Formats: sequence, C-alpha cells, structure tokens
Amino acid sequence: MATHEWLVCPTTSCYNDGPRATNEVNRRTTDAMAMRIGVFCSGGDAPGMNACTRAVVRAATTQGHEVVGIRRGYQGLLEEDFYINAANERLMDARSVSGIIGWGGTVLRTSRSPEFQTDAGQQKATAILRQHRIDGLVAIGGDGTYRGAMALARFWDGQIIGCPGTIDNDLVGTDFTIGFHTAVNTAVEAVDKLRDTAESHERMFIVEVMGRHSGYIALFTALAAGAEIACLPETATTAEQIIAQLHELRRRGKRSIIIVVAEGDELGGAVKLSERLDQLGCPYSSRVVILGHIQRGGSPSPNDRILAGRMGDFAVESILAGKTGQAVSVVSGQMTLVPFSEAASGHHTVPADYVRLLDVLAQ
Ligand code: F6P
Repeated sequence: MATHEWLVCPTTSCYNDGPRATNEVNRRTTDAMAMRIGVFCSGGDAPGMNACTRAVVRAATTQGHEVVGIRRGYQGLLEEDFYINAANERLMDARSVSGIIGWGGTVLRTSRSPEFQTDAGQQKATAILRQHRIDGLVAIGGDGTYRGAMALARFWDGQIIGCPGTIDNDLVGTDFTIGFHTAVNTAVEAVDKLRDTAESHERMFIVEVMGRHSGYIALFTALAAGAEIACLPETATTAEQIIAQLHELRRRGKRSIIIVVAEGDELGGAVKLSERLDQLGCPYSSRVVILGHIQRGGSPSPNDRILAGRMGDFAVESILAGKTGQAVSVVSGQMTLVPFSEAASGHHTVPADYVRLLDVLAQ
C-alpha cells in the first residue's frame, strides 16, 4: 500500500482550514506506486450502482491498486463497515464483483447519514480513512453524496471523485446519471399497462413519478409512453389550464388520458392534482397511481450498465491522474469531470425542445 503523503498544489490549503482551492494534487510518488482506493454508494440506490462498483474494482485492481469496499455509505465509513473478501481481507478483488453487473440496488448497500453531516462526523471519517491508509475515494451517489464529499475534503487530504448514481438525473454538468434510463424504462412499462385499462374503461390515470425537484423522469416517461400531459416542476401549469386541455382532448375524441406528474411539481403531486381537477369539473373519470420506489429497483438497462462501467473506469483513471473534488460526467457521449460545487448546485434543466415535443405529439 502507498505510504506516501499527498502533496496538495501550493496554492491550496487543504488541512482542517477550509475547502480545497484546486481540483488536483501532485503525487510525491511514482506512478508505479500502488494506491488504496475506497468505493462506496450513498443516498438513494439506483440501478447501475453495482455495475459502477464493478468497474471501479476492476479498473483499479488490474493496474495493481487496492480497493476497499465501504458498505452503507458515509454511515458505514463511520462504523468501519468494510467489505470482506473470500480471503478474509478488507479488500475487494475481481471476484468480489463477479456477476453483479445486472443486479439492481447496491451490494455495498447504502444509507443517508445524519451523523456524517456534522463536523464531528467528518473528522471521525477522516481519522478512519487515515487509519486504513486510504488514498482516494470513489463516491457513487447524487447531490447529497457530492455535498458530503465536499464537506469531507475540509478535513481529509485524500482524493475524492464522484460518480453520478441517482435515478433523478438532477445533477448539473452531466447529460445523464446512472439509473435514470432504467427508472424511465420501469415507469414507461407501468404507464403502458395503465393505458390498457384507461382505454378499456375510457378513463384518465394521473401517474406520479419520482425525481425529487426534477422533472426529468416525468418528461421522459410522458414522451416515451405517449402521455397527453406532463406536470413538471420546471414548467408552470395551472389546474385550470389542464381542465381546458382535457375538454379540448375530449372534444377531439380522446377516450383515455394519461397525466404524468413529477413528485416535485408545484401542483403538489398526483393526489392533490386529482382533487383539484375534480373540484373544477374534470371531464374524465380518473384514478391515481403513485409509482414510488418501484422506479428505483430492477436490473439496470444495457445503457445504464455501459454508462456505469465507463464512469467507474473514468473515476479510477481520474484518481490515478491526481484529480480530486470532481464528479464524473457524460457530455455528448464523452466522459469529463465537473467540480462537485457545480454538479451539486443549481438545477439540471429539462430540455425545452422535449417539453415542446410533448405538446406537439399529445393530440
Ligand atoms: O433521489 C432518489 C429518490 O428516489 C427521489 O426520486 C425520491 O424523492 C427520494 O429518493 C426518495 O427517498 P427515500 O428512498 O429516502 O424515501
């Protein structure tokens, strides 16, 4: 294991006195020196997290580096809950990740950790990382995971690279996150089934999908399932406008209606929307379906498996190249790095042309 210290660029002050001012470190060692890289998943599980973990393990170990699997995210780090391999070592090897590429969830498990959110928690995590001589971390998760990484970097001088693992596709700077496409597949499959009943009974279904403050899952689901209406946090839609649209669709002979509502929509979700539409005189008999955590599970799509594999590999290469404080991102098919501060801030805006397309096609 690497016994070297990490030398942060001269312009930075990294140790217990504020955030890093740079995204690179200079290693005192030669490239040939082995590193010990920790990998963990944090926040909501997403399909493809296992494929990403597999890629991290294999990309690192084939180059002679060690990988420590940290279970249950930041909370597991605080409890030194490490993966144990077949040889009873606290290490992951190529066989530790055999067969997991197609599994949903995360074999490393995950958590949301209130303890880690405190200075004391981050200092404790720093001491544990030093004690186990971990040089770099790959953090697979969403914006909360990235914020945790930034907080940790106030105390810990190792390298941290993120991989965007969340179904929400809400991270700035990456076109897609690991798990998003699979979640959309799951939602579309569900809506296709609801359409059968909607057509048979001449009904309307109001389907609520996840996404927290983002409308990505709702918009992509609506487009792919041929929904008539999508309610997104990014677009201001009133119940009165929806009622007017429903009357128009009725006049044009539409027998069934699907409204996809993002859970973060300003109208308050599917139940509230349904009540409001009924008060205003909805021209269709309706039912509410909340898809919920069904969208988080299941085997990752080929697209998510490949994206996860590329991102895990790129995360390891980035650490070996001395990068830190950044998130792996995909832009127009190319892998790149985006500072955590940018990736976890602001809003990943849904594409306006997709919103327009839904209006054009929903006739
Ligand atoms: O971030 C993923 C996500 O599934 C969101 O879409 C949703 O709002 C949230 O997590 C649900 O969190 P929990 O599983 O803690 O209820």
